Amino acid sequence: MCGIIGIASNKPVSINIINSLKKLEYRGYDSAGLATLINNFINEKKCSGRVDELEKILFKSPSDGNIGIGHVRWATHGVPNVVNAHPHSSKNVSVVHNGIIENSDELKKELELKGIKFKSQTDTEVITLLITEALKNSEPLVAVFSILKKLKGSFALGIIFKDFPDIIIGARRGSPLAVGFSNNENYLGSDSYALKSMTNKISYLDDGELCILTENSVSFYDSNLKKINKKIHIVSKDENISDKGDYKNFMSKEIFEQPITAKKCVNEYIDSIKKDINIYNFPLEPKKIKKIILIGCGTAYHSCLVAKYWFEELTKIDIEIDIASEFRYRNIKFNSNNLYIFVSQSGETADTAAALDICKKNNVKTCAVVNTIESTIARNSDWVLPIHAGPEIGVASTKAFIGQLIVLYILSLKFSSMREEIDKKIYYQKIKNLEKLPNSIKNTLLLEPDLQLMAKEFLDARGSMFLGRGCSFPIALEGALKLKELSYLHAEGYPAGEMKHGPLALIEEGLPVIVIAPKDKYFEKTLSNMQEVIARGGKIFFFTDNKKELISENIRFGLRITNIDNFLSPILMTIPLQLLAYHVALLKNCDIDKPRNLAKSVTVE
Ligand code: M6R
Repeated sequence: MCGIIGIASNKPVSINIINSLKKLEYRGYDSAGLATLINNFINEKKCSGRVDELEKILFKSPSDGNIGIGHVRWATHGVPNVVNAHPHSSKNVSVVHNGIIENSDELKKELELKGIKFKSQTDTEVITLLITEALKNSEPLVAVFSILKKLKGSFALGIIFKDFPDIIIGARRGSPLAVGFSNNENYLGSDSYALKSMTNKISYLDDGELCILTENSVSFYDSNLKKINKKIHIVSKDENISDKGDYKNFMSKEIFEQPITAKKCVNEYIDSIKKDINIYNFPLEPKKIKKIILIGCGTAYHSCLVAKYWFEELTKIDIEIDIASEFRYRNIKFNSNNLYIFVSQSGETADTAAALDICKKNNVKTCAVVNTIESTIARNSDWVLPIHAGPEIGVASTKAFIGQLIVLYILSLKFSSMREEIDKKIYYQKIKNLEKLPNSIKNTLLLEPDLQLMAKEFLDARGSMFLGRGCSFPIALEGALKLKELSYLHAEGYPAGEMKHGPLALIEEGLPVIVIAPKDKYFEKTLSNMQEVIARGGKIFFFTDNKKELISENIRFGLRITNIDNFLSPILMTIPLQLLAYHVALLKNCDIDKPRNLAKSVTVE
């Protein structure tokens, strides 16, 4: 993953580099570093851990220099320590890198045979040393260009040179790279968000392209090193997102913002006067769609899974879902009558972006359901449906998931209506129910004290299980993902009907088992599956919208979530699961906004 920044200016840059790195921490927070050029000397500062640490180092020993690069790391090659932190510098060159060099071992051996020594365990140091060698015979741009051909894998690079103190070179393949323009200052960054507090004028490098920045010029080159012009985009203003208000952390803020997220999303897509869904400009005429393929990773994949049930119930369209990292390597039979929908909060997830690229190469119609409308996935799709959740900072996705679900549900309803596959009365009733959703989410959040109590029961557990059927199955997966990601407690999500095919062997006395059972067509079946767990000693936490079934001596905890429409129950059932994971993590003193080993945006394969 990792985030990179570069600034060429007429004034010292280290403070702005630190501020941008703070914004890029969503890409990794294992270590941080920067390098500036001072009197033809590369001045490097690095630390393991967070950007705050780097800031402290800089406070004690300031680093001047009007040109510099910075990096936040999510470790791939080599443990997260100071030596492996970026930038990786030789005497002449300093490099920050986002991506993975797949043939780094091979290249390292070649360099070692020439007597060149490595300091770190990273793949990036290979780039530094290759450029250092190439600089012996060529000027910087040609040197960088010549070594890029040797690299396999993905990269976004920012490079500064001891003997060329006015320039930063940027290059990309696979990993995104943005260039920002201002007066007497130009920038490189992993995304426009990192640059927004400094400029709103942004260009995006395409694969294979390079750029050279000075304080008052930017030049772009294509993959043949031919000078090119790039379009300048005017991006939206910076949003102040650093304020947690009265909340302990961003995650709790984001959980409690969900009624607003839902309201914004519903207002955006539902015409409150006509009481109809206002989605237009379809890339494919809905009646002609043969199949919809929904693709995402992690939580976004779970929203695809839920959407599969909605589309299947409401339309006659064939639905397929896939995890992006699988989709991109499958032997897919593309069809121009299919619609390929990519779901992503960040819009920068490497696997999802690569799966989208494959679709584009096969000339099929694509749609992005994203939170970040200036992202790579949004820019590269034929059609964008924003979820309007606002910036999500906590690594665990909460309000973005709810936004994704709402957009996908609205889309399934719209298609169903345009294809004349839903009774008009039911359609308008469903729209009315949707308008009630923000308030229902608000009421569900009032259950927090119950979830605080339940959380205590997980403290000594060796693991846990989440069960559901139909639409509640993906919600079980999402509940389990939230718990493991936040509290590091082993959690498995299963379709309840699968238990007797293996997982039942895991049930032992006192194992927490969360059963998600709205009163839908699966309800009785889920109850039977629950009895099988009870018979083997599982400690049941029963989440339902049916009051009657709550009281049973075999149920450790029952929670009633008031429902307004069976189609909306996956959205409402998610809320208590988020709160449960949150409170278990809080009791275990975990780092809630930045869980170990993770990053908000997974920008490497
Ligand atoms: O930005 P994306 O939605 O594409 O991210 C996909 C996953 O990495 C993400 O949902 C991840 O699973 C979350 N941390 C889960 O809470």
